[in-house]
Parts: sequence; C-alpha cells; structure tokens
Amino acid sequence: MKNIKTSASILSADMINLENVIKQLEECNIDMLHFDVMDGVFVKNITFGIPILKAIRKKTNLFLDVHLMIIDPIKYIKQFAEAGADLITFHLESNSDPIETLKCIHSYGIQSGIVIKPNTPYEEVLPYLPYSDVVLVMTVEPGFGGQSFMENMMEKVNALSSYIEKNNLKTKIEVDGGINDKTSSIAVSAGAEILVAGSYLFNHKDKSAAVEALKSIS
Ligand code: DX5
Ligand code: ZN
Repeated sequence: MKNIKTSASILSADMINLENVIKQLEECNIDMLHFDVMDGVFVKNITFGIPILKAIRKKTNLFLDVHLMIIDPIKYIKQFAEAGADLITFHLESNSDPIETLKCIHSYGIQSGIVIKPNTPYEEVLPYLPYSDVVLVMTVEPGFGGQSFMENMMEKVNALSSYIEKNNLKTKIEVDGGINDKTSSIAVSAGAEILVAGSYLFNHKDKSAAVEALKSIS
C-alpha cells in the first residue's frame, strides 16, 4: 500500500490571511504546501515568488513543494532553494536543460521534480526519471486553479507507474489540477502518490475532513 501525501495549493487561499491559512493547514494533517509560481510568459497568469516563499518559510516547518511555471527555471533555482523550498519542480516544456536543472536543484540538498503538461507524451520524461525525486503529471492546463480534472491523463500516470516499478526507480508521481474527494481515488488507483489540491481544500470549511477524504480511497 502506497503512502499517499497531500499538498495544499495556496493559489486558492485567502492571501491577506496567509499566516492563518498556514496555521489551519498545519492543524489538518496536510503533508505539504504547494506553491505555484507563474511568470506570465510560460503560462497566462502571474502569481507570487521568492519574497513570499521566504516569508512562509519563516512561519512554518511544513514541507514546501514549489511548482515553477516559468520560462527559464534554472536561473532562479538558487533563490528558491535559499528561500526555503524542500522540493522544486519545473516544466519539461520550459527553456532550461532538464539534467542541468535537476542537478542544480540537488546541489542545494533538496528534492527535485519534473512536470509535464497535458499535451506532452509521458515518453519524453522517461530519460530524466533516474534524476528526479518526483514526476508531476498536470491534470489540467497549467495557469489557473478551479479547472476540471482531465481523466485521460491517467493513461500517462499508469504508464509512468509501470515504468518506475519495472526499472526499480524511486521517483514518486504527483498529480496537480482538479483533485477532489472523487478524482483523488482515480489518481491513486492509477499510481499517483502526491495529490495537489487547491480549490477543493479551500472551499471546504472542515479542512481536516477534506484531507481525510482525499486520502481515503474508495
Ligand atoms: C495550476 C496549478 C495548480 C492549481 C490547482 O496551474 O499548478 O496547483 O492551484 O488548483 P485546483 O486544485 O483548484 O485545480
Ligand atoms: Zn501546481
């Protein structure tokens, strides 16, 4: 039985009350905090960056899962690592060399991961799995929270899961986009181990119950 982890995407959180939001997350058994960085170039949206991550790091010991949706991630790895990231994931479709970027992330003693967008075939990421702690399969088009889960991405999750097992790799599969109490089961059955949830979690008053629902596989 896999150890399912949940990562709360604060993209949908009340930004002005971030300190309280983080306190609530700490109390509800969440495993990670998912931090979506968008540059308005790689995706059609702009969010937050290094100063906010640094401020969050000062307030919590939660594992910080940083998802870079930026055009040239390698340029900013040092700053995100020094700001307190525990895991940095970046897109295969970005302009940075994947191996160089993965090595650069590891040089700061933190975990690394590579992300693929819905239109990218899973085969393209296979050469990088031995260097990645995490492979993140987007289950929506990156850019915005609150979109619907793309169930057809589960073919990729299944294929990656078999490949990882067959090759005795340690890479964990993360899914991001449209995760709720129903789609979480679908993703876990396909082989996902880290579930990112944004709007589902923040639309729920009882966050502990929401986290439990994400982890309980029907
Ligand atoms: C989308 C982001 C996601 C997003 C998930 O580009 O990478 O992390 O916040 O939000 P929900 O869970 O609402 O789909
Ligand atoms: Zn994300």
